[in-house]
Amino acid sequence: MPTGIRTAVDTPTAPVPVSAGEQDEDVDMADVLTVRGGIPLRGSLRVRGAKNFVSKAMVAALLGEEPSRLSNVPDIRDVAVVTRLMELHGVSVKNDGNGELLLDPSNVESARMADIDAHAGASRIPILLCGPLVHRLGEAFIPDLGGCRIGDRPINYHLDVLRSFGAQVEKQPMGIRLTAPNGLHGTHVELPYPSVGATEQVLLTAVRAVGVTELRNAAIEPEIMDLIAVLQKMGAIISVDTDRVIRIEGVDRLTGFKHRALSDRIEAASWACAALATHGDIYVEGASQPEMMTFLNVFRKVGGAFEIDEGGIRFWHPGGDLDSIVLETDVHPGFMTDWQQPLVVALTQASGLSIVHETVYENRFGFTDALREMGAVIQVYKECLGGRPCRFGARNFRHSAVISGPAKLRGADIVVPDLRGGFSHLIAALAAEGTSRVYGIDLIDRGYEHFQAKLDSLGATYDRDLQAAS
Ligand code: EPU
Repeated sequence: MPTGIRTAVDTPTAPVPVSAGEQDEDVDMADVLTVRGGIPLRGSLRVRGAKNFVSKAMVAALLGEEPSRLSNVPDIRDVAVVTRLMELHGVSVKNDGNGELLLDPSNVESARMADIDAHAGASRIPILLCGPLVHRLGEAFIPDLGGCRIGDRPINYHLDVLRSFGAQVEKQPMGIRLTAPNGLHGTHVELPYPSVGATEQVLLTAVRAVGVTELRNAAIEPEIMDLIAVLQKMGAIISVDTDRVIRIEGVDRLTGFKHRALSDRIEAASWACAALATHGDIYVEGASQPEMMTFLNVFRKVGGAFEIDEGGIRFWHPGGDLDSIVLETDVHPGFMTDWQQPLVVALTQASGLSIVHETVYENRFGFTDALREMGAVIQVYKECLGGRPCRFGARNFRHSAVISGPAKLRGADIVVPDLRGGFSHLIAALAAEGTSRVYGIDLIDRGYEHFQAKLDSLGATYDRDLQAAS
C-alpha cells in the first residue's frame, strides 16, 4: 500500500478551509491501475466538449421555456452527476448516446423542494442553480450533504453577488436556502478576484433579473464566452467590454438553445504533456488553437513540437533535451491552473531549474509529493517565486515549486489526489521506468472521457484491477 502521500495532499499548510480545486470525492482505493511505464505514447485520440462548460450550459437550459440541444458532450462522470441534478429539478435529459443532450425544462415548476436536498455534493454545480431556481421557483435550497462541504468551501463571492441581486440567504443546518421576496434585480458588482464560478453565477442570475447588471473584474475564460453565446441564443442581451466588464440587460423570458460545446482545452493539454513526458507523439483530434495559445507558447518554449491542422493538434517530443522554464498560472488569458499539474510532470524531464508559481489556488502542489517518491526533484515554497507577488504570498501556503531536471522517474505506488493531480500521476507512471500502482483511478473518469480506451490506442501497457486493494 502507498504510504504518506494521501496525508500530505490532504494537509493544508494553513488552517483555511479552501479546496485545492475539485478535491471533493472519496478515493476508491480498490480501483487500481497497474502501469508498466517507460513506453512512449504514440497514436491519436479525440477530445470532445469541455467539462467546465458543458455542466454550465446544462444549468442554463433550466432558464429556458423551451427544450435545448447541446452537442459534443463527453461521456464523463461529471455529466452524469449534473444530469441527475437537472432531473431532480424537473428537467428531462435525453442523451442520444452520441454526445447530444436534449434538455426539456417544461416541468421545472413542479420539482419538489423536498426532493432537491437529495443530490450529492460530488460537484460544485449546485451553487450555480441558485439564480435560475429563484427565478423559476421563487426559492432555492443548496444542500450541504456529506458534512459541511458547501458551508466550508469558498462560495463567499457567490453569496455576496446573490445578495446584491436581492436574494436573502439563510444558512440552515443542512445547507443554504435562498429566497427573493422582492424579486431579483440588476446590480453593479465588482468581484475581489476574477472567479470563473462567481462570473457564471452573475450571468445565470442577471439574464432574467429586472434591469441592468454590470459586473467588474469578471473572468473571461473561453468556457465563459461559450456560456455567453448559449445565453445569447436563448434571448439574453450581454455585452463584454474591455477591462473585464460584462453588462447584462435582463429580459422577461428565455427560449431554448442549440449549441455545440467548445472543446476541452484541459484534456487536450493533458495529453500534450503526456506526449512530452513519455517521449511520445499524440494527435489530439478536436484540440483547438485559439483557446490553447498560451499553452502552445509554453509547450514550444519547453522544447515540445506541435503541428496544427483543421481537425486538431499533433504534439510530440522532437528528441534532445527539454528546456526549463519560469512560469506562473493565472486567469485567462494567462496559463491555466489546470494545465499546471500535467506540465509539471513534463518539466521533471527538462534540463535545469524550472519555477512554477501557482496564483489561482493556494494549495495545488500536494500532488508533487508522489512525484518526489518517484524520483522527481521538486521543492515547494511559501514565497511567490519567479513572478509578481500574488494574494497567497503573505500567507502560509506553499504555492511555488522549483523543479530540477532531468530526473529519472521510477515506478511507485501512488494515490490519485484529485482530477488533474491524478491524471498527472498517471502521466508520471507512464513515463517512469518500472511498474506503478495508481490507486483510486476512478476519479479520472470524472473528467477524462474513456481514458482507458485512449491509453489503449496510444500503446500504453497497464491492467485495471478492482479488487487488488480490498
Ligand atoms: N474563490 C473564492 N470564493 C468564491 C469563489 C472562488 O475565494 O466564492 C477563489 C477560489 O478559492 C480560487 C479562485 O477564487 O482560489 C478561483 O476560483 P474559481 O471560482 O475561478 O474556480 P471555480 O469556478 O470553482 C472553475 C473550474 C476549475 C478551474 C477554475 C479556474 C469548474 C467546475 N471548475 O472552478 O476546474 O480550476 O475554474 O479556472 O468549472 C478542474 O476542472 O479540475 C477544475 C478544478
